[in-house]
Amino acid sequence: MKEIRIPIGRTANNKVVTIPIVPLYRNHCFIAGEPGSGKSVLINNIIKYIVKNYDKNEVMVWTCFPQGPVIDFQSESVKDFSVPGKSTEDQIASFIRQVFKEADYRSQTLYDERAMSYTELYSMPLLIVVIDELSPMYYVDDDDYFTEWIRRILEMSHATGISLIFTSQLPNTRLSGLPHEYDRAFNIRIALRGSYALILEALYDYPGVMPSEISEAAENLSRGKAGDFILHDYSDLESCIVGRIDPPSNI
Ligand SMILES: Nc1ncnc2c1ncn2[C@@H]1O[C@H](COP(=O)(O)OP(=O)(O)O)[C@@H](O)[C@H]1O
Ligand SMILES: [Mg+2]
Repeated sequence: MKEIRIPIGRTANNKVVTIPIVPLYRNHCFIAGEPGSGKSVLINNIIKYIVKNYDKNEVMVWTCFPQGPVIDFQSESVKDFSVPGKSTEDQIASFIRQVFKEADYRSQTLYDERAMSYTELYSMPLLIVVIDELSPMYYVDDDDYFTEWIRRILEMSHATGISLIFTSQLPNTRLSGLPHEYDRAFNIRIALRGSYALILEALYDYPGVMPSEISEAAENLSRGKAGDFILHDYSDLESCIVGRIDPPSNI
């Protein structure tokens, strides 16, 4: 397992912005944007970059595209768990259980290996788990069943080399029931061309943003606080790609 960096664009100063995935840290990415804002196109580019630049022994991508195919290529590095004909919610729920099983398997293997050698641990491929369009789950997850599986995966993720990349029409603060520390596990946040309120909520955890907070955060964004970025070509704040990248957590 090694650290990978996925370029997603350039800032006005021509600096390349990359999504860093650092194995053995809790390191996850959440992409929020209204319908038509470019989430699926971004996911396609991210996965394409990974399979072009890394061997399948280094990085595997598991995907679920319940609303139809998103990538326009095939690769041995990509395993697609979409099941056309099944409901969006059923597909995501069963995919999340598969990912949990993999995390559990990995952590058992690592536990068994620990007595013998650490080399096995580092020979496992990094696993990137992509779900394009999570929002249907917000409406059906009344008993927090789905949230509970996500929470368990997040708990094991750093030790097992699993990173999540989720997209949604709604910011992750609205993932019902996810405790704040897990919400923060998504240390890479990207907001695509949304309303300003959605952008701030997606980046800074401001559910129901207040006007005073909007101006404060707008100032932070325009000053370019550490980790915050605005991509060139989208620098009009009303219609932009903005994001923040916090250090990943190892606890
Ligand atoms: N980076 C981009 N640059 C230019 N056009 C884009 C970009 N991303 C998306 N688009 C356009 O916007 C349309 C909708 O994008 P899509 O990724 O399907 O949005 P979403 O998944 O958020 O609903 C695409 O068909 C594409 O033409
Ligand atoms: Mg889409």
